[in-house]
Amino acid sequence: MALSQLGPFSATELLLASAIFCLVFWVVRAWQPRIPKGLRSPPGPWGWPLLGHVLTLGKNPHLVLSRLSQRYGDVMQIRIGSTPVLVLSGLDTIRQALVRQGDDFKGRPDLYSSTLVFDGQSMTFNPDSGPVWAARRRLAQNALNAFSTASDPASPSSCYLEEHVSKEAEALLTRLQALMAGAGCFDPYIQVVESVANVIGAMCFGRHFPQSSEEMLSLVKNSHEFVETASSGNPVDFFPILRYLPNPTLQRFKTFNQRFLRFLQKTVQEHYQDFDKNSVQDITGALFKHRENSSRAGGGIIPQERIVNLINDIFGAGFDTITTAISWSLMYLVTNPKIQKKIQEELDTVVGRARRPRLSDRPQLPYMEAFILETFRHSSFLPFTIPHSTVRDTTLNGFYIPKERCVFINQWQVNHDERLWGDPFEFRPERLLTANGTAINRTLSEKVMLFGMGKRRCIGEVLAKWEVFLFLAILLQQLEFSVPPGMKVDLTPIYGLTMKHARCEHVQARLRFPIK
Ligand code: HEM
Repeated sequence: MALSQLGPFSATELLLASAIFCLVFWVVRAWQPRIPKGLRSPPGPWGWPLLGHVLTLGKNPHLVLSRLSQRYGDVMQIRIGSTPVLVLSGLDTIRQALVRQGDDFKGRPDLYSSTLVFDGQSMTFNPDSGPVWAARRRLAQNALNAFSTASDPASPSSCYLEEHVSKEAEALLTRLQALMAGAGCFDPYIQVVESVANVIGAMCFGRHFPQSSEEMLSLVKNSHEFVETASSGNPVDFFPILRYLPNPTLQRFKTFNQRFLRFLQKTVQEHYQDFDKNSVQDITGALFKHRENSSRAGGGIIPQERIVNLINDIFGAGFDTITTAISWSLMYLVTNPKIQKKIQEELDTVVGRARRPRLSDRPQLPYMEAFILETFRHSSFLPFTIPHSTVRDTTLNGFYIPKERCVFINQWQVNHDERLWGDPFEFRPERLLTANGTAINRTLSEKVMLFGMGKRRCIGEVLAKWEVFLFLAILLQQLEFSVPPGMKVDLTPIYGLTMKHARCEHVQARLRFPIK
């Protein structure tokens, strides 16, 4: 057969096809990072061209990636669209990356959804992880501590947090009893979010926080519009075309962010009208003062306009997370009445009924603390940390990880790792106590992972743990929570940045003893 006539194709056509194939092959090879000798790329499952693993992730990426990690290991690589994503599982591997190699893994990827959060100026979501981010984080942490866990000289409470939570928990008790006397049941999420927003609102803005304004309530009651889009693995971050097609969830996210930013800017402006640098009483005041001082000193490292807007990160992180924690706790209580009884017996013994629980009671209430930790572990309502990114080429467990690699940290996997917990799907607060049941087993409790770790670890962790404790202690001292007999409670988490349970409007609360 003549070379110039091979079947239906001419020699020129075949040559052209081979040239294109070689070119594509060369481009793909050139795109892939060169792997230094002796190292390997992390393993991972085969992915579809163009789509990668987006369909595999489905509606519950935390479950799918936990399952895949059993096969491919703690350092695994997937692809979403054309973007490679490193997925880390296993407590030791995550600790190695975020703590021991914290400087390598402290970045944030440049995701489309992050550009929509607070006009792209968020300290939490913005890709900046350099000296400006570090200084903003330090400033936010100091201002937060000063008006939450530090003591308020003008109050008999042990700290600002205790003062605000005690007041709000009291108001919540009254509201829940009124609802019981009226409708006879309530949706705990809606009730709790108002109280928690008032606590962080008071710490951020003092008396300038518009406590029961319609706009504030409508925003905090609709935070699902934020968390459903700001979740790890959202296709909109990996397939640019999805930003231009009709997308109601994305539209809700954009509108929510705009309204939220407008609300916070207005509150900050009103606060500034009567700001007195000699009498700073809240976090915004502390940030105003820092801005004034740094402008007088000729400008610090943080640009002026990025000081006060730190309040957005603090308020934003401070209401949804804690509400979700308390709401999950109430769901576990109504589905585990024996556990609720045990917590109340402990409260009756340690605190009694003549006074309200205080933060100083916490060390004497280990069962209560074990219950909260087990709620964190079992629900794992923050299944992944906020996505990380590598800031330079690095290695992990012998695998090569190039700079700017998007990294998902699977907290849900750590909290359900059979090697750590034996029976991870059982809800058993006792597992977090010492053998004689009288104290928290610190070695094990440190393995519950919900606040991240290392350079990006949550700055509100202590405040969050104390606040959840005090709200629950005050509520459970007075009220017994339940659902009507035979009522099914759906505890399936709904995937998002924070995972909620399905709303339950039938929770009831019975007064345990008359309030004096
Ligand atoms: C139960 C409640 C909370 C949970 C479970 C939680 C969890 C987390 C997690 C997982 C991260 C990301 C860590 C990472 O990316 O590696 C984070 C970051 C953060 N959290 Fe929290 N958080 C809670 C409450 C709070 C509160 C009350 C505040 C402030 C009032 C707060 C402020 C922040 C901030 C500002 C960041 C960003 C830190 C950074 O990017 O450097 N959080 N939190």
